[in-house]
Amino acid sequence: MKPVDKDFIIKGEHIYLRPITQADTELVLRWRNAPEVVKNFLYRKEITAQEHQSWLENKVFTGQVHQFVIVDAADDTPLGSVYLQNFDEENNKAEWGLFLDGDKTRGRGVGTEVGNLIWDYAFDTLKLHKLHSRVLARNKPCVRMNEKLGFPQEAYLRDELLLDGSYEDLILYGALKGDRGQ
Ligand SMILES: CC(C)(COP(=O)(O)OP(=O)(O)OC[C@H]1O[C@@H](n2cnc3c(N)ncnc32)[C@H](O)[C@@H]1OP(=O)(O)O)[C@@H](O)C(=O)NCCC(=O)NCCS
Repeated sequence: MKPVDKDFIIKGEHIYLRPITQADTELVLRWRNAPEVVKNFLYRKEITAQEHQSWLENKVFTGQVHQFVIVDAADDTPLGSVYLQNFDEENNKAEWGLFLDGDKTRGRGVGTEVGNLIWDYAFDTLKLHKLHSRVLARNKPCVRMNEKLGFPQEAYLRDELLLDGSYEDLILYGALKGDRGQ
């Protein structure tokens, strides 16, 4: 994929998405390394500033990942980040993921609004055929969010991962454009 144009904005009702920049590094590291985010991700190690820099240079700025900062439209407060990754151009599909800042941001419908914006971006702007995500089965808000968005569950993999000494069930979601929920 081509990298996202630096002036590209995705506008929602309460939030907007803008491309991540180098200047977001400190915020993104804080969000992504927060224990309540780490525990819901498959990659558990703390992400260093150097690793993030390499992610930006090798993945984001090359277009292999399309990553955005989620911003509150009312006061321009950055709320979290969402990305499309693992573009499979041969089969016209990609994976999405997101993380929001602490408890004040979560549970207010932000994740669902982001998911709807990413749905439009993936299917209408990028013209992807399929969008998928991997979610730990115990991550109830994320499971519920995927269901509300209309992601059909394509697989439930029992004890798929050994994370921090515990086996975890993993759900694979995969949507086609017409699957859209509310
Ligand atoms: C997962 C995440 C992105 C969801 O975003 P959010 O803004 O909190 O989610 P929303 O408010 O849009 O919706 C969440 C839904 O889950 C429900 N929910 C919340 N906690 C729940 C729980 N413990 N059990 C069941 N449902 C729950 C909410 O009620 C809501 O459903 P409803 O509208 O039917 O009431 C966000 O919580 C987050 O960043 N979590 C930490 C990082 C993470 O888990 N990232 C995803 C990795 S796959």
